[in-house]
Amino acid sequence: MDIQLIPATIASVPEMVDCGRRAFENDALEHAIFPNRSEALLESKEVLEYRMNLIRKRLQSPDWHYVLATIDSTEAPAKVVGYAGWMAPPPQENITEQKQVESAVESQIQQRPFATDDEYSPKGMDMDAFKHAVEVIEKAKKEILGKEEHRVWYLASLAVDPDFKGKGIASDLVQWGVSKAEEAGLPAYLDSSPAAVGLYRRLGFKELRRLNVIRNDESHFSTVMMRTPGSAET
Ligand SMILES: CC(C)(COP(=O)(O)OP(=O)(O)OC[C@H]1O[C@@H](n2cnc3c(N)ncnc32)[C@H](O)[C@@H]1OP(=O)(O)O)[C@@H](O)C(=O)NCCC(=O)NCCS
Repeated sequence: MDIQLIPATIASVPEMVDCGRRAFENDALEHAIFPNRSEALLESKEVLEYRMNLIRKRLQSPDWHYVLATIDSTEAPAKVVGYAGWMAPPPQENITEQKQVESAVESQIQQRPFATDDEYSPKGMDMDAFKHAVEVIEKAKKEILGKEEHRVWYLASLAVDPDFKGKGIASDLVQWGVSKAEEAGLPAYLDSSPAAVGLYRRLGFKELRRLNVIRNDESHFSTVMMRTPGSAET
């Protein structure tokens, strides 16, 4: 099977959302955010639109890199079997220290990985559960990275079509961003679902902290992981 990695375009967004919906079918956080998940995601146009708009917005920013894994198929265009959403560090060239601080604050407001329209809550989505997860994740990122918060390649989303699991597709998508981070001499940073910790570990990421991202559920956690430049694969 020939897998190709290509940049996402606006035209690929519906396929990406469908791939993500299928990939996260059994993910506990996904179930907390979408309590009536199957109905909400299959039937609520609002939820689908919400997800598509989030990706469309990100695609307009030069700092977001959505990479698609595609396979040749009889359909045109090629079938999307996975994707990764990487956020690059904002450029820092030619700015004074003071401007760096201002620009960092600005980009933080504009480009928080999970930034969303606070007023909007699509039918079928538990916005409080979503905001809770976002707050916990962003607080940890600030605590762990401090002033270096923006000097990382951040993996905000990763999904592989369940029919194509175990073929190295996620590894390739993660390796894409890891190579960018290596080239820049910067760390790669992410919050892992329980399903993906082994995969990231194999690619040189270390577990830093466990986060209770679901309210009133201590048994579920996301794992903050970071890979420093030069870390070997295992
Ligand atoms: C977790 C997830 C991203 C993994 O995707 P994937 O494409 O199956 O991942 P890979 O194939 O690269 O690696 C998975 C396993 O297959 C093995 N593998 C990799 N290439 C392989 C190949 N060519 N042949 C057989 N097995 C292979 C790997 O060793 C790996 O094992 P490990 O998990 O014990 O490390 C995918 O299942 C998914 O989308 N899950 C739901 C959403 C999710 O949790 N996303 C992560 C958010 S942080």
